[in-house]
Amino acid sequence: MPPVRNLVEDAQKALEASIMYYKGQAVGTIAARDKDALALNYDQCFVRDFVSSALVFLITGREDIVRNFLEITLTLQSQERRMDCFKPGLGLMPASFKVELRGGGEVLIADFGEHAIARVTPIDSCLWWMILLRAYVKATGDLALANRSDFQHGMRLILRLCLETRFDMYPTLLVPDGSFMIDRRMGVYGYPLEIQALFYAALRSAEELLLPNDLDGIRTAVIERLGHLAFHMRSYYWLDMQRLSEIYHYKGEEFGISAVNKFNIYASSIPAWFINWLPDEGGYFAGNIGPGLIDFRFFTLGNLMSVITSLSTKEQSSNILTLVANRWDDLVGQMPMKICFPAVEDRDWQLFTGFDPKNVPWSYHNGGNWPVLLWFLVAAAVKTGNIPLAENAIKLTEARLGKDLFPEYYDGKNGRLIGKEARRYQTWSIAAFLLSKQLIANPEHLKLISFEEDNRAIACEF
Ligand code: GLC
Repeated sequence: MPPVRNLVEDAQKALEASIMYYKGQAVGTIAARDKDALALNYDQCFVRDFVSSALVFLITGREDIVRNFLEITLTLQSQERRMDCFKPGLGLMPASFKVELRGGGEVLIADFGEHAIARVTPIDSCLWWMILLRAYVKATGDLALANRSDFQHGMRLILRLCLETRFDMYPTLLVPDGSFMIDRRMGVYGYPLEIQALFYAALRSAEELLLPNDLDGIRTAVIERLGHLAFHMRSYYWLDMQRLSEIYHYKGEEFGISAVNKFNIYASSIPAWFINWLPDEGGYFAGNIGPGLIDFRFFTLGNLMSVITSLSTKEQSSNILTLVANRWDDLVGQMPMKICFPAVEDRDWQLFTGFDPKNVPWSYHNGGNWPVLLWFLVAAAVKTGNIPLAENAIKLTEARLGKDLFPEYYDGKNGRLIGKEARRYQTWSIAAFLLSKQLIANPEHLKLISFEEDNRAIACEF
Protein backbone atom coordinates (compact mmCIF):
# COMPACT_ATOMS: atom_id res chain seq x y z
CA MET A 1 0.00 0.00 0.00
CA PRO A 2 1.42 3.44 -0.87
CA PRO A 3 2.17 5.63 2.18
CA VAL A 4 -0.58 8.11 3.10
CA ARG A 5 0.66 11.52 2.06
CA ASN A 6 0.46 14.25 4.62
CA LEU A 7 -0.33 17.42 2.74
CA VAL A 8 0.97 19.79 5.41
CA GLU A 9 4.30 17.95 5.55
CA ASP A 10 4.52 17.89 1.75
CA ALA A 11 3.83 21.62 1.63
CA GLN A 12 6.40 22.35 4.34
CA LYS A 13 9.04 20.37 2.46
CA ALA A 14 8.17 22.10 -0.81
CA LEU A 15 8.35 25.54 0.81
CA GLU A 16 11.73 24.68 2.33
CA ALA A 17 12.99 23.57 -1.07
CA SER A 18 11.98 26.88 -2.62
CA ILE A 19 14.24 28.97 -0.35
CA MET A 20 16.81 31.04 -2.20
CA TYR A 21 20.26 31.78 -0.77
CA TYR A 22 22.63 34.69 -1.20
CA LYS A 23 26.12 34.56 0.33
CA GLY A 24 25.03 31.68 2.53
CA GLN A 25 21.92 33.40 3.88
CA ALA A 26 18.28 32.61 3.14
CA VAL A 27 16.86 35.69 1.44
CA GLY A 28 13.63 34.69 -0.29
CA THR A 29 11.71 31.97 -2.11
CA ILE A 30 11.67 31.31 -5.84
CA ALA A 31 8.30 31.67 -7.61
CA ALA A 32 8.08 28.06 -8.81
CA ARG A 33 10.20 24.93 -8.73
CA ASP A 34 8.85 23.14 -11.77
CA LYS A 35 11.46 21.08 -13.56
CA ASP A 36 9.15 20.30 -16.47
CA ALA A 37 8.19 23.84 -17.47
CA LEU A 38 10.16 26.64 -19.00
CA ALA A 39 11.65 28.66 -16.13
CA LEU A 40 11.20 32.11 -17.76
CA ASN A 41 11.47 34.25 -14.61
CA TYR A 42 9.82 31.76 -12.25
CA ASP A 43 13.27 30.95 -10.84
CA GLN A 44 13.36 34.44 -9.32
CA CYS A 45 12.05 35.70 -6.00
CA PHE A 46 9.02 37.94 -6.65
CA VAL A 47 8.26 40.52 -3.98
CA ARG A 48 4.49 39.97 -4.16
CA ASP A 49 4.85 36.17 -4.14
CA PHE A 50 7.26 36.21 -1.23
CA VAL A 51 4.71 37.88 1.08
CA SER A 52 2.78 34.58 1.37
CA SER A 53 5.97 32.66 2.24
CA ALA A 54 7.10 35.44 4.57
CA LEU A 55 3.94 35.30 6.65
CA VAL A 56 4.45 31.55 7.09
CA PHE A 57 8.08 32.17 8.09
CA LEU A 58 7.07 34.85 10.59
CA ILE A 59 4.60 32.48 12.21
CA THR A 60 7.02 29.55 12.32
CA GLY A 61 10.02 31.29 13.86
CA ARG A 62 11.99 31.89 10.62
CA GLU A 63 11.99 35.67 10.97
CA ASP A 64 15.62 35.79 9.80
CA ILE A 65 14.60 35.04 6.20
CA VAL A 66 12.09 37.90 6.22
CA ARG A 67 14.61 40.28 7.74
CA ASN A 68 17.23 39.34 5.13
CA PHE A 69 14.68 39.80 2.38
CA LEU A 70 13.67 43.26 3.65
CA GLU A 71 17.31 44.31 3.89
CA ILE A 72 18.40 43.17 0.46
CA THR A 73 15.34 44.49 -1.35
CA LEU A 74 16.00 47.82 0.33
CA THR A 75 19.49 47.90 -1.15
CA LEU A 76 18.00 47.08 -4.57
CA GLN A 77 15.50 49.93 -4.28
CA SER A 78 18.10 52.61 -4.83
CA GLN A 79 19.87 50.80 -7.66
CA GLU A 80 20.01 52.61 -10.95
CA ARG A 81 17.83 51.08 -13.63
CA ARG A 82 16.77 52.01 -17.09
CA MET A 83 14.40 51.23 -19.90
CA ASP A 84 16.39 51.78 -23.08
CA CYS A 85 18.18 54.98 -22.00
CA PHE A 86 15.41 56.29 -19.79
CA LYS A 87 16.02 56.25 -16.03
CA PRO A 88 12.83 55.95 -13.94
CA GLY A 89 12.68 57.66 -10.53
CA LEU A 90 13.71 56.12 -7.25
CA GLY A 91 11.35 54.51 -4.78
CA LEU A 92 10.03 51.54 -6.72
CA MET A 93 10.83 48.08 -5.45
CA PRO A 94 11.69 45.37 -7.98
CA ALA A 95 9.10 42.91 -9.25
CA SER A 96 11.65 40.17 -8.66
CA PHE A 97 15.32 39.41 -8.15
CA LYS A 98 17.72 36.51 -8.60
CA VAL A 99 21.21 35.52 -7.51
CA GLU A 100 23.78 35.09 -10.28
CA LEU A 101 27.40 34.00 -10.30
CA ARG A 102 29.60 36.69 -11.82
CA GLY A 103 33.37 36.95 -11.69
CA GLY A 104 33.55 34.18 -9.11
CA GLY A 105 31.09 35.85 -6.73
CA GLU A 106 27.36 36.02 -6.19
CA VAL A 107 25.48 39.12 -7.31
CA LEU A 108 21.85 40.13 -6.99
CA ILE A 109 20.08 40.99 -10.23
CA ALA A 110 16.83 42.87 -9.86
CA ASP A 111 14.02 43.33 -12.37
CA PHE A 112 12.03 46.54 -12.07
CA GLY A 113 10.05 45.66 -15.16
CA GLU A 114 12.89 46.29 -17.59
CA HIS A 115 13.18 42.54 -18.30
CA ALA A 116 9.57 41.55 -17.65
CA ILE A 117 7.20 40.49 -20.40
CA ALA A 118 5.66 43.74 -21.78
CA ARG A 119 7.95 45.81 -19.52
CA VAL A 120 5.22 46.19 -16.87
CA THR A 121 5.91 48.39 -13.83
CA PRO A 122 5.57 46.50 -10.53
CA ILE A 123 3.80 49.21 -8.55
CA ASP A 124 2.48 46.78 -5.95
CA SER A 125 6.01 45.70 -4.89
CA CYS A 126 6.83 48.84 -2.90
CA LEU A 127 3.41 48.72 -1.24
CA TRP A 128 3.81 45.04 -0.32
CA TRP A 129 7.30 45.79 1.00
CA MET A 130 5.92 48.27 3.52
CA ILE A 131 3.09 45.95 4.52
CA LEU A 132 5.64 43.17 5.07
CA LEU A 133 7.96 45.40 7.08
CA ARG A 134 5.09 46.16 9.42
CA ALA A 135 4.20 42.43 9.64
CA TYR A 136 7.83 41.68 10.55
CA VAL A 137 7.79 44.32 13.29
CA LYS A 138 4.48 42.99 14.63
CA ALA A 139 5.77 39.42 14.71
CA THR A 140 9.18 40.14 16.22
CA GLY A 141 8.81 43.44 18.09
CA ASP A 142 12.02 44.47 16.30
CA LEU A 143 11.05 48.11 15.80
CA ALA A 144 14.75 48.95 15.68
CA LEU A 145 14.90 47.64 12.11
CA ALA A 146 12.15 49.99 10.90
CA ASN A 147 13.72 52.85 12.86
CA ARG A 148 17.06 52.45 11.11
CA SER A 149 17.82 55.47 8.96
CA ASP A 150 18.10 53.43 5.74
CA PHE A 151 14.64 51.93 6.38
CA GLN A 152 13.11 55.32 7.24
CA HIS A 153 14.68 56.70 4.05
CA GLY A 154 13.40 53.77 1.93
CA MET A 155 9.87 54.26 3.26
CA ARG A 156 10.04 57.97 2.47
CA LEU A 157 11.16 57.27 -1.12
CA ILE A 158 8.11 55.05 -1.60
CA LEU A 159 5.77 57.51 0.05
CA ARG A 160 7.08 60.46 -1.92
CA LEU A 161 6.50 58.56 -5.14
CA CYS A 162 2.93 57.70 -4.07
CA LEU A 163 1.96 61.02 -2.52
CA GLU A 164 3.44 63.27 -5.18
CA THR A 165 0.82 65.67 -6.51
CA ARG A 166 0.15 64.89 -10.16
CA PHE A 167 -2.25 65.56 -12.98
CA ASP A 168 -5.05 64.03 -11.02
CA MET A 169 -8.24 64.89 -9.12
CA TYR A 170 -8.64 61.70 -7.07
CA PRO A 171 -6.97 60.45 -3.85
CA THR A 172 -6.53 57.01 -5.46
CA LEU A 173 -3.32 55.99 -7.30
CA LEU A 174 -3.28 56.28 -11.08
CA VAL A 175 -1.34 53.35 -12.58
CA PRO A 176 -0.67 51.65 -15.93
CA ASP A 177 -2.08 48.26 -16.98
CA GLY A 178 -0.56 45.15 -15.41
CA SER A 179 1.10 46.88 -12.46
CA PHE A 180 0.18 44.27 -9.81
CA MET A 181 -0.63 40.56 -9.51
CA ILE A 182 -2.34 40.85 -12.89
CA ASP A 183 0.87 41.74 -14.67
CA ARG A 184 -0.41 41.60 -18.23
CA ARG A 185 -2.75 43.78 -20.19
CA MET A 186 -6.26 43.15 -18.84
CA GLY A 187 -8.00 46.53 -18.90
CA VAL A 188 -6.80 47.21 -15.35
CA TYR A 189 -5.13 50.57 -15.83
CA GLY A 190 -6.39 53.75 -14.20
CA TYR A 191 -7.49 53.25 -10.62
CA PRO A 192 -7.64 49.45 -10.10
CA LEU A 193 -8.96 48.26 -6.77
CA GLU A 194 -6.00 46.01 -5.89
CA ILE A 195 -3.54 48.89 -6.02
CA GLN A 196 -5.85 51.10 -3.94
CA ALA A 197 -6.28 48.42 -1.25
CA LEU A 198 -2.51 47.86 -1.08
CA PHE A 199 -1.92 51.63 -1.07
CA TYR A 200 -4.26 51.97 1.90
CA ALA A 201 -2.49 49.14 3.76
CA ALA A 202 0.92 50.63 2.97
CA LEU A 203 -0.17 54.04 4.28
CA ARG A 204 -1.48 52.46 7.48
CA SER A 205 1.82 50.60 7.84
CA ALA A 206 3.73 53.85 7.32
CA GLU A 207 1.61 55.57 9.93
CA GLU A 208 2.79 52.96 12.44
CA LEU A 209 6.41 52.82 11.32
CA LEU A 210 7.47 56.39 10.51
CA LEU A 211 9.28 58.09 13.34
CA PRO A 212 7.24 60.90 14.91
CA ASN A 213 9.71 63.61 13.95
CA ASP A 214 8.01 64.88 10.80
CA LEU A 215 10.29 67.57 9.45
CA ASP A 216 9.34 66.94 5.82
CA GLY A 217 5.60 66.62 6.57
CA ILE A 218 5.36 63.09 5.12
CA ARG A 219 3.70 61.62 8.18
CA THR A 220 1.03 64.34 8.17
CA ALA A 221 0.48 63.76 4.45
CA VAL A 222 0.07 60.01 5.06
CA ILE A 223 -2.59 60.55 7.69
CA GLU A 224 -4.49 63.06 5.61
CA ARG A 225 -4.41 60.84 2.52
CA LEU A 226 -5.71 57.86 4.51
CA GLY A 227 -8.88 59.78 5.30
CA HIS A 228 -9.51 60.92 1.74
CA LEU A 229 -8.71 57.52 0.26
CA ALA A 230 -11.02 55.71 2.70
CA PHE A 231 -13.86 58.12 1.96
CA HIS A 232 -13.40 57.81 -1.81
CA MET A 233 -13.27 54.01 -1.79
CA ARG A 234 -16.12 53.45 0.66
CA SER A 235 -18.44 55.88 -1.12
CA TYR A 236 -17.72 55.50 -4.81
CA TYR A 237 -16.38 51.96 -5.30
CA TRP A 238 -19.12 50.28 -3.30
CA LEU A 239 -21.65 48.19 -5.24
CA ASP A 240 -24.78 46.55 -3.86
CA MET A 241 -28.48 46.49 -4.72
CA GLN A 242 -29.03 49.98 -3.39
CA ARG A 243 -26.09 51.38 -5.36
CA LEU A 244 -27.23 49.53 -8.48
CA SER A 245 -30.60 51.19 -8.19
CA GLU A 246 -28.96 54.61 -7.74
CA ILE A 247 -26.68 54.12 -10.75
CA TYR A 248 -29.58 52.79 -12.81
CA HIS A 249 -31.42 56.05 -12.22
CA TYR A 250 -28.42 58.35 -12.65
CA LYS A 251 -28.78 61.34 -14.90
CA GLY A 252 -25.84 62.13 -17.20
CA GLU A 253 -24.11 65.40 -18.03
CA GLU A 254 -24.34 66.91 -14.54
CA PHE A 255 -22.04 69.88 -14.22
CA GLY A 256 -20.80 71.58 -11.08
CA ILE A 257 -20.31 70.74 -7.46
CA SER A 258 -23.86 69.57 -6.78
CA ALA A 259 -23.56 66.68 -9.31
CA VAL A 260 -24.79 63.38 -7.87
CA ASN A 261 -23.36 61.32 -10.71
CA LYS A 262 -19.82 62.60 -10.13
CA PHE A 263 -18.07 60.36 -12.67
CA ASN A 264 -20.77 60.72 -15.33
CA ILE A 265 -21.68 57.03 -15.42
CA TYR A 266 -24.37 56.17 -17.95
CA ALA A 267 -26.95 53.63 -16.80
CA SER A 268 -26.69 51.89 -20.16
CA SER A 269 -23.06 51.00 -19.33
CA ILE A 270 -24.23 48.68 -16.51
CA PRO A 271 -23.54 45.21 -17.92
CA ALA A 272 -26.43 42.74 -18.09
CA TRP A 273 -24.40 40.08 -16.26
CA PHE A 274 -24.03 42.40 -13.26
CA ILE A 275 -27.76 43.12 -12.99
CA ASN A 276 -28.47 39.38 -13.05
CA TRP A 277 -25.56 38.32 -10.85
CA LEU A 278 -25.62 40.78 -7.96
CA PRO A 279 -27.40 39.04 -5.07
CA ASP A 280 -30.04 40.80 -2.94
CA GLU A 281 -27.74 40.39 0.05
CA GLY A 282 -24.07 41.28 -0.14
CA GLY A 283 -21.92 43.74 -2.03
CA TYR A 284 -18.36 44.47 -3.11
CA PHE A 285 -15.95 47.12 -4.32
CA ALA A 286 -15.90 47.76 -8.07
CA GLY A 287 -12.73 46.91 -9.95
CA ASN A 288 -12.03 50.45 -11.10
CA ILE A 289 -13.61 53.91 -11.13
CA GLY A 290 -12.66 56.70 -13.47
CA PRO A 291 -14.21 59.31 -15.72
CA GLY A 292 -17.30 57.71 -17.27
CA LEU A 293 -16.16 54.32 -15.98
CA ILE A 294 -17.15 51.71 -13.46
CA ASP A 295 -15.49 48.36 -14.01
CA PHE A 296 -18.13 46.09 -12.49
CA ARG A 297 -15.89 43.00 -12.44
CA PHE A 298 -15.27 41.44 -9.02
CA PHE A 299 -11.52 41.40 -8.27
CA THR A 300 -10.72 39.05 -5.43
CA LEU A 301 -7.41 40.24 -3.99
CA GLY A 302 -8.55 43.87 -3.80
CA ASN A 303 -11.84 43.02 -2.15
CA LEU A 304 -10.37 40.61 0.37
CA MET A 305 -7.46 42.90 1.24
CA SER A 306 -10.02 45.66 1.83
CA VAL A 307 -11.67 43.44 4.42
CA ILE A 308 -8.38 42.37 6.01
CA THR A 309 -7.02 45.92 6.29
CA SER A 310 -10.34 47.61 7.25
CA LEU A 311 -10.42 49.73 4.12
CA SER A 312 -14.03 48.58 3.93
CA THR A 313 -16.27 49.49 6.87
CA LYS A 314 -17.36 46.71 9.19
CA GLU A 315 -20.70 46.50 7.42
CA GLN A 316 -19.13 46.47 3.95
CA SER A 317 -16.69 43.75 5.03
CA SER A 318 -19.47 41.53 6.23
CA ASN A 319 -21.34 42.20 2.97
CA ILE A 320 -18.30 41.19 0.89
CA LEU A 321 -18.19 37.83 2.69
CA THR A 322 -21.95 37.45 2.23
CA LEU A 323 -21.47 38.01 -1.49
CA VAL A 324 -18.75 35.34 -1.63
CA ALA A 325 -21.06 32.90 0.18
CA ASN A 326 -24.01 33.75 -2.09
CA ARG A 327 -21.95 33.38 -5.26
CA TRP A 328 -19.77 30.51 -4.05
CA ASP A 329 -19.97 28.42 -7.23
CA ASP A 330 -18.80 31.33 -9.37
CA LEU A 331 -16.13 32.77 -7.07
CA VAL A 332 -14.80 29.67 -5.32
CA GLY A 333 -16.09 26.75 -7.38
CA GLN A 334 -13.79 23.75 -7.15
CA MET A 335 -10.64 25.64 -6.19
CA PRO A 336 -10.46 28.82 -4.07
CA MET A 337 -10.48 31.23 -5.64
CA LYS A 338 -11.22 33.11 -8.85
CA ILE A 339 -8.88 36.03 -9.53
CA CYS A 340 -11.74 38.01 -11.07
CA PHE A 341 -15.29 37.46 -12.21
CA PRO A 342 -16.56 37.26 -14.88
CA ALA A 343 -14.01 36.61 -17.62
CA VAL A 344 -13.96 39.05 -20.52
CA GLU A 345 -14.94 37.35 -23.75
CA ASP A 346 -15.18 37.92 -27.50
CA ARG A 347 -14.60 41.51 -28.58
CA ASP A 348 -13.95 42.60 -24.97
CA TRP A 349 -11.22 39.97 -24.70
CA GLN A 350 -9.68 41.25 -27.94
CA LEU A 351 -9.76 44.87 -26.79
CA PHE A 352 -8.85 44.39 -23.12
CA THR A 353 -6.07 41.82 -23.53
CA GLY A 354 -4.83 42.58 -27.04
CA PHE A 355 -5.71 38.99 -28.15
CA ASP A 356 -3.58 37.49 -25.35
CA PRO A 357 -3.69 33.67 -25.78
CA LYS A 358 -2.66 33.11 -22.16
CA ASN A 359 -5.58 35.21 -20.91
CA VAL A 360 -8.37 33.55 -22.88
CA PRO A 361 -11.73 33.50 -21.04
CA TRP A 362 -11.70 31.54 -17.76
CA SER A 363 -7.96 31.05 -17.76
CA TYR A 364 -4.99 32.62 -15.92
CA HIS A 365 -5.69 36.31 -15.13
CA ASN A 366 -8.95 36.31 -17.04
CA GLY A 367 -11.13 34.42 -14.59
CA GLY A 368 -8.75 31.60 -13.60
CA ASN A 369 -8.78 30.17 -10.05
CA TRP A 370 -5.61 30.85 -8.03
CA PRO A 371 -4.79 28.78 -4.94
CA VAL A 372 -2.74 31.68 -3.52
CA LEU A 373 -6.02 33.54 -2.99
CA LEU A 374 -7.05 30.92 -0.42
CA TRP A 375 -5.20 32.67 2.36
CA PHE A 376 -6.77 36.02 1.58
CA LEU A 377 -10.19 34.37 1.73
CA VAL A 378 -9.39 32.58 5.00
CA ALA A 379 -7.99 35.78 6.55
CA ALA A 380 -11.04 37.82 5.50
CA ALA A 381 -13.36 35.09 6.77
CA VAL A 382 -11.55 34.90 10.11
CA LYS A 383 -11.68 38.71 10.42
CA THR A 384 -15.44 38.75 9.89
CA GLY A 385 -16.11 35.65 12.01
CA ASN A 386 -17.03 33.35 9.10
CA ILE A 387 -15.02 30.34 10.25
CA PRO A 388 -17.14 27.64 8.53
CA LEU A 389 -16.67 29.44 5.20
CA ALA A 390 -12.89 29.42 5.70
CA GLU A 391 -12.95 25.74 6.63
CA ASN A 392 -14.97 24.83 3.55
CA ALA A 393 -12.52 26.65 1.34
CA ILE A 394 -9.53 24.88 2.92
CA LYS A 395 -11.27 21.50 2.49
CA LEU A 396 -11.56 22.11 -1.24
CA THR A 397 -7.84 22.70 -1.58
CA GLU A 398 -7.00 19.68 0.57
CA ALA A 399 -8.83 17.48 -1.89
CA ARG A 400 -6.67 18.50 -4.85
CA LEU A 401 -3.71 20.77 -4.25
CA GLY A 402 -1.17 18.10 -3.30
CA LYS A 403 -2.42 15.58 -5.84
CA ASP A 404 -2.09 18.23 -8.55
CA LEU A 405 1.42 19.21 -7.35
CA PHE A 406 0.50 22.73 -6.15
CA PRO A 407 -0.31 24.41 -9.46
CA GLU A 408 -0.13 28.13 -10.03
CA TYR A 409 -3.72 28.39 -11.27
CA TYR A 410 -6.74 26.43 -12.52
CA ASP A 411 -8.88 26.96 -15.61
CA GLY A 412 -12.60 26.80 -16.36
CA LYS A 413 -15.74 28.45 -15.04
CA ASN A 414 -15.48 26.53 -11.78
CA GLY A 415 -11.74 26.00 -11.66
CA ARG A 416 -11.92 22.31 -12.49
CA LEU A 417 -8.87 21.94 -14.70
CA ILE A 418 -5.23 22.57 -13.88
CA GLY A 419 -4.25 25.74 -15.74
CA LYS A 420 -3.02 25.17 -19.26
CA GLU A 421 0.32 26.84 -18.67
CA ALA A 422 0.34 26.62 -14.88
CA ARG A 423 3.67 25.91 -13.20
CA ARG A 424 3.70 23.07 -10.64
CA TYR A 425 5.23 23.57 -7.19
CA GLN A 426 4.26 27.23 -7.36
CA THR A 427 5.54 28.62 -4.07
CA TRP A 428 2.69 30.98 -3.22
CA SER A 429 0.16 28.17 -3.79
CA ILE A 430 2.13 26.08 -1.29
CA ALA A 431 2.55 28.91 1.23
CA ALA A 432 -1.10 29.96 0.96
CA PHE A 433 -2.19 26.50 2.04
CA LEU A 434 0.16 26.46 5.04
CA LEU A 435 -0.76 30.01 6.03
CA SER A 436 -4.48 29.23 5.83
CA LYS A 437 -4.05 26.26 8.17
CA GLN A 438 -2.12 28.49 10.59
CA LEU A 439 -4.72 31.27 10.50
CA ILE A 440 -7.53 28.84 11.27
CA ALA A 441 -5.56 27.12 14.03
CA ASN A 442 -4.66 30.43 15.65
CA PRO A 443 -6.62 33.52 14.50
CA GLU A 444 -4.19 35.67 16.54
CA HIS A 445 -1.80 35.45 13.57
CA LEU A 446 -4.21 37.59 11.58
CA LYS A 447 -2.89 40.70 13.31
CA LEU A 448 0.32 40.47 11.27
CA ILE A 449 -1.57 41.56 8.20
CA SER A 450 -4.83 43.11 9.48
CA PHE A 451 -5.64 46.58 10.80
CA GLU A 452 -8.20 47.82 13.30
CA GLU A 453 -11.37 49.58 12.13
CA ASP A 454 -10.69 53.14 11.06
CA ASN A 455 -13.44 55.75 11.07
CA ARG A 456 -11.35 58.69 9.97
CA ALA A 457 -12.80 58.85 6.45
CA ILE A 458 -12.66 62.51 5.47
CA ALA A 459 -15.61 63.77 3.49
CA CYS A 460 -15.18 67.26 2.12
CA GLU A 461 -18.46 67.64 0.28
CA PHE A 462 -19.29 71.13 -0.90
C1 GLC B 1 2.84 35.70 -12.97
C2 GLC B 1 1.76 36.35 -12.14
C3 GLC B 1 2.36 37.27 -11.11
C4 GLC B 1 3.37 36.51 -10.27
C5 GLC B 1 4.42 35.83 -11.15
C6 GLC B 1 5.34 34.92 -10.38
O1 GLC B 1 3.51 36.65 -13.73
O2 GLC B 1 0.87 37.06 -12.94
O3 GLC B 1 1.34 37.81 -10.29
O4 GLC B 1 3.98 37.38 -9.36
O5 GLC B 1 3.77 35.04 -12.14
O6 GLC B 1 4.63 33.92 -9.72
